[in-house]
Amino acid sequence: MGDTTRMEPSRRARQLPPSPIRALAPLAEAARKRGVRVIHLNIGQPDLPPPACVLEALGRASRLPLVYAPARGLPETVEGWCAYYRRQGIEVEPDEVLVTAGASEALWLALLATADPGDEVLVPEPFYAPYQGLLAAAGLALVPVPPGPGLGPPDPAELRARVTPRTRAILLCSPANPSGAVWDRAALTAAGELARQAGLYLLSDETYREIVFDGPRATSVLELLGLEEHAVVIDSLSKRFNVCGLRIGSLTTRNRAVMAAALELAELRLALPVVDQLAVAGALAAPRPYVDEVVAAYRARRDAALAALSTVPGVEAHRPGGAFYIVVRLPVDDAERFAAWLLAEFEHRGETVMLTPMRSFYATPGAGCDEVRLALVHGPETLGRAVEIMAAGLAAYPGRTG
Ligand SMILES: Cc1ncc(COP(=O)(O)O)c(C=O)c1O
Repeated sequence: MGDTTRMEPSRRARQLPPSPIRALAPLAEAARKRGVRVIHLNIGQPDLPPPACVLEALGRASRLPLVYAPARGLPETVEGWCAYYRRQGIEVEPDEVLVTAGASEALWLALLATADPGDEVLVPEPFYAPYQGLLAAAGLALVPVPPGPGLGPPDPAELRARVTPRTRAILLCSPANPSGAVWDRAALTAAGELARQAGLYLLSDETYREIVFDGPRATSVLELLGLEEHAVVIDSLSKRFNVCGLRIGSLTTRNRAVMAAALELAELRLALPVVDQLAVAGALAAPRPYVDEVVAAYRARRDAALAALSTVPGVEAHRPGGAFYIVVRLPVDDAERFAAWLLAEFEHRGETVMLTPMRSFYATPGAGCDEVRLALVHGPETLGRAVEIMAAGLAAYPGRTG
């Protein structure tokens, strides 16, 4: 036997925050084996079909030579992103865009290109849970900023109060996963003003940009004047085009030094799949109606779910302005325990639901302990049934508090 005593996974990997969803997955599997149908409200995997032109292009792309693409992305795909932004009224040059493997890679590149180990990043709560692991793995400190009213954008004074000499960036998400909060121009401008005064990057995750229910698309930080050197946009086609499996996103910035750094980092992974990139190039340049249909579908689901939730005693649902999730406060001792109990010990007419406990969407100790997130990834009828199951579960749950 060789010496394995020094062979442990890295501290970097071991310090990653635990995922409550990972803990729930075996319970869901066990429920399924018992014959209970589990309605998954836990992951943001859209159930809607992708645009037809993506599927057609996918067929054509599979006949192409499988060579390395440029690290920045295929010229057609880079151009596609520029055409897309132009259609939104945002002028972006090809050398300001880097095609990435989804928003996930864009987040990595944005963080690694703008901050060093030990630096701090201000992150409004509740945040997309993986931010916590991404920052930790990059050696960055996540400094949580409490939300404004209704889980909306934080009071600018709360952001300002947390700036220290180590602060390098503000990482925001609009429309936000999980709250659905849409940052209006005033909120973005206030964060931008702070970024300008304090010399911070404004990293803006705009994965859900057009999925807005009560108005036009969300404002982009690329539209804020005087922030050209600060704004870095993280973008993705996963949700707006229902192509999570294609892994196409982008990082866009007018800051040349940051783009050069991000490109150098991207060169380490050589290239992204040519098939995936070509599949979306045409769809990026296509007009808006497909996304409009997606938004209409989610709006109907949001309204159905909110109507159903409003009839359940003791629950408080936050009305999302965009994205496709609803944060719900429950009258329970612990949302993680309740979510586990629903899978392990409860069923309603042969079905149960899998919810996402919200604790990992906050860094502030204790925050989110009585909250869950529902993903609107089923039609209105199934969502209505899921809420009915949740209500029956709440009525029977031994740890109910109110
Ligand atoms: C806010 C946000 N950012 C980034 C991502 C990552 O998406 P992808 O890597 O599929 O583009 C997600 C996925 O759920 C998300 O909700």
